[in-house]
Amino acid sequence: MKKILIINGPNINMLGIREPEIYGSKSYADLLDFIGAAAEKAGLEAHCFQSNSEGAIVDKIQQAHGVFDGIIINPAAYTHTSIAIPDAIKAVGIPTVEVHLSDIKNREPYRQISYTSEACKKTIKGKGFEGYKTAIKVLAETEN
Ligand code: DQA
Repeated sequence: MKKILIINGPNINMLGIREPEIYGSKSYADLLDFIGAAAEKAGLEAHCFQSNSEGAIVDKIQQAHGVFDGIIINPAAYTHTSIAIPDAIKAVGIPTVEVHLSDIKNREPYRQISYTSEACKKTIKGKGFEGYKTAIKVLAETEN
């Protein structure tokens, strides 16, 4: 069975409390349930990780080498600032899909650039929790 790693970056643990008009009223625990159900349906083994720290996210990506067949990442604010995260994704060479709950292309100017995108095979934005389900399907259909 394919193993996938789902990484969520800073403040994603605050879902439900954080700006519900943008990110919705469901919690991070709800997101974990949603991902678990979608992965089971797709026949994938899913492991979820959340951190508010860029270094911890880079460490987790490095540790995925030789262990995981795919990564789904919502780097949150690090999307727009981090070079270390896409470098780590390129270093491990694991097929990776980028997900954003909100449509970053229709938000503030400083959210227009994603440094993560160039290291990912696909970027899904503005679809809320459903974006993670689409990413799971993409990885389920990816030849490793
Ligand atoms: C986000 C979008 C980012 O711009 C923001 O900093 C986040 C969440 C999203 O899922 O829509 O924290 O990645």
